[in-house]
Amino acid sequence: MAKSDKSVYVCNACGARHSKWVGQCADCGGWNTLEESRAIEIRGGQRSPGYSGQVSEVYALEDIPAGHEARVVSGLAELDRVLGGGIVVGSVTMIGGDPGIGKSTLLLQMLAAISQQVSTLYVTGEESLQQVRLRATRLGLDQVPMKLVTETHVERILDLLQQTRPQVLVIDSIQTVYTDALSSAPGSVSQLRESTAMLVRYAKQSGTSLFIVGHVTKEGALAGPRVLEHMVDTVLYFEGDASSQYRMLRAVKNRFGAVNELGVFAMLEGGLKVVSNPSAIFLSRHQQPIPGSTILVTREGSRPLLVEVQALVDESHLANPRRVTLGLEQNRLAMLLAVLHRHAHVTTFDQDVFVNVVGGMRVTETGADLAVLSAVLSSMRNRSLQHGLVLFGEVGLAGEVRPVQGGADRLKEAAKHGFSRAIVPAANAGKQTRVEGLEVLAVQRLGEALELIW
Ligand code: TYD
Ligand code: MG
Repeated sequence: MAKSDKSVYVCNACGARHSKWVGQCADCGGWNTLEESRAIEIRGGQRSPGYSGQVSEVYALEDIPAGHEARVVSGLAELDRVLGGGIVVGSVTMIGGDPGIGKSTLLLQMLAAISQQVSTLYVTGEESLQQVRLRATRLGLDQVPMKLVTETHVERILDLLQQTRPQVLVIDSIQTVYTDALSSAPGSVSQLRESTAMLVRYAKQSGTSLFIVGHVTKEGALAGPRVLEHMVDTVLYFEGDASSQYRMLRAVKNRFGAVNELGVFAMLEGGLKVVSNPSAIFLSRHQQPIPGSTILVTREGSRPLLVEVQALVDESHLANPRRVTLGLEQNRLAMLLAVLHRHAHVTTFDQDVFVNVVGGMRVTETGADLAVLSAVLSSMRNRSLQHGLVLFGEVGLAGEVRPVQGGADRLKEAAKHGFSRAIVPAANAGKQTRVEGLEVLAVQRLGEALELIW
């Protein structure tokens, strides 16, 4: 490297640039995350290397032909749902997830499903062609007209694409891919960024739909700086409990559809199968109502979902009683317990409180508040809720019950699964939300809700 090529040090956790190497990144505080990378210096009067001298044309918004997003429907209903209705032509999607969660399996099944309609190419840098073939045989997909190649060199992949011109391309995984333009090792930040940029540029120019597999770090973020997430149109996370057969595909960013949309799959002997009625798997039906258990109607993206929230409240022998949540935010529980004390005069300062969302689901919305508080109280008093009751609603610091989004859809879902009563925020209980067979009880304050329950 010539002396004039300045080195910069890029943090591989947050992407911050530093002029010299230090042990700890000043931006994100990560230890040993800095990596050397070369800065291309553009001297005064000199144009950047890619500058062709052509100036882009400026349009008035109304003059731009509207067009519509062309989509390829894969037929894997849950995947199509998460993508917002199918694979958008020319879009770039990144799929992250723990090793062994099923990313390669999902993409292989997707390619198999669409390879009758469009031309596809699966570029693998992790497994040999024999391994992929074996997997395809196990999935019963070995008769499908699908093209595969093992390649990790971006320039060679791009050459190959010029010849084969696939309409849907899968890169498995981006961490194995490298470019000659940089001297750093595959998987390093600068390599990831540059390789992704080259592939994205190709996809946008040629109208290819590109799927990129990305590994996640121990903390669960996509390995490499967050910049990768900015470069793509859609970011999906494949998650699930290793001990459970259910896998959830979640959209955390989507330029062509709703975020937080959730697709549910089951990993079986013959590969991933879509679960079209996920409420049924997250809902454990007890013969008798049991204390400490409530049914919440939550919403994931555009879909209402019934989940069971369980609480256990037990006498604590610790100076700081425990507040443990699984599938919910812990700080929110502490806040709700304070609201419970202040507005319903129930004290928990000498109690350990555990709250769990059954089935490995993660509920991120505030609409769970009412269900969490009634589960806590139910466990504390050792009294179960009435049979056939569902709840949803946010609880504010002033003890008020606030409305949530999609009230009507939630009530319909509850009625569909045979529930007969619902306690909901007053603002969610309008005329238009009336559902046959479901008694809707509107509440404005936490106290009212608790009175109705018992
Ligand atoms: P894989 O797609 O290789 O995961 P990733 O690409 O995310 O690392 O998934 C492999 C796991 O899935 C492995 O633990 C075995 C399991 N599996 C099944 O249970 N059934 C199947 O039909 C297949 C193909 C895999
Ligand atoms: Mg894989």
